[in-house]
Amino acid sequence: MANNLLEGKRGIISGALDQNSIAWKVALKAKEQGASFVLTNAPIAMRMGAINDLAAQCGAEIVPADATSVEDIENLFSKSTEILGGKLDFVLHSIGMSPNVRKGKDYGDLNYDWMLKSIDISAISFHKMMAVAEKQDAMNEWGSIVALSYIAAQRTFPDYSDMAQAKAMLESIARSYGERFARLKKVRVNTISQSPTMTTAGSGVGGFDVFIDYADKMSPLGNATADACADYCVSMFSDLTRMVTMQNLMHDGGFSSSGITERLVEQLKK
Ligand code: NAI
Repeated sequence: MANNLLEGKRGIISGALDQNSIAWKVALKAKEQGASFVLTNAPIAMRMGAINDLAAQCGAEIVPADATSVEDIENLFSKSTEILGGKLDFVLHSIGMSPNVRKGKDYGDLNYDWMLKSIDISAISFHKMMAVAEKQDAMNEWGSIVALSYIAAQRTFPDYSDMAQAKAMLESIARSYGERFARLKKVRVNTISQSPTMTTAGSGVGGFDVFIDYADKMSPLGNATADACADYCVSMFSDLTRMVTMQNLMHDGGFSSSGITERLVEQLKK
């Protein structure tokens, strides 16, 4: 469904690791809607090489950047405006990683250096990106910046561990920077809180398949897919959502407003 919603728009898309990545789908849909963009990921993730296929499909260049490094991000934004031939209209932050989750640390026995790393990679990097964009005056007016979040920011999901704190901070940064960027440059900043999705980051969380099934049954529309999330991102980058800012937008098939659902009751009765 190509409506040229992003025709003439330039952007940066982070976090496309493989075909399952939410950012991968965003890149394909943004291309379909007429956008041009630069792809970025951590230098270490480049080793997998899959991003090169995506870049070829989208006619996009890749600028590696470790999202915790301000220097890398400065290089990313200056190269991107140079490559794309002008200021940016959209940025996708699709970055998350917790060494504590990855290495199976119990929540009562967190490695605090790793916790700082989780928060730096998954939340502070969002602030760093926006601060660099502001300092370089890299965003066009009415530009749109989106990060992906998860409902563990508001409610506990034990296996999500310190990522819950990282997501709470991510959403808070969206509000604080959203106020600043709206005032200074009429740029909007939002987070999209996505259903659990089978990706590399998602499946790192313990018991993820059981959990995905539970979330699906607790959502009247079922879990939102990565493709549907990409559609929502595209709509947030488009001019149709110009007055939406400083929001955490639930994209979860109704999960966050459900107490219990018939499908779950039926399963529990079995
Ligand atoms: P993914 O594993 O495909 O993407 C995560 C990306 O973060 C990878 O591309 C990885 O290379 C990148 N990354 C990690 N450390 C980095 C660093 N230091 N610098 C730059 N990039 C770095 O998984 P997915 O699910 O597509 O994740 C994208 C976003 O969506 C994350 O913020 C995640 O927390 C969020 N999300 C995922 C959900 C899920 O169930 N999969 C649900 C809700 C939100």
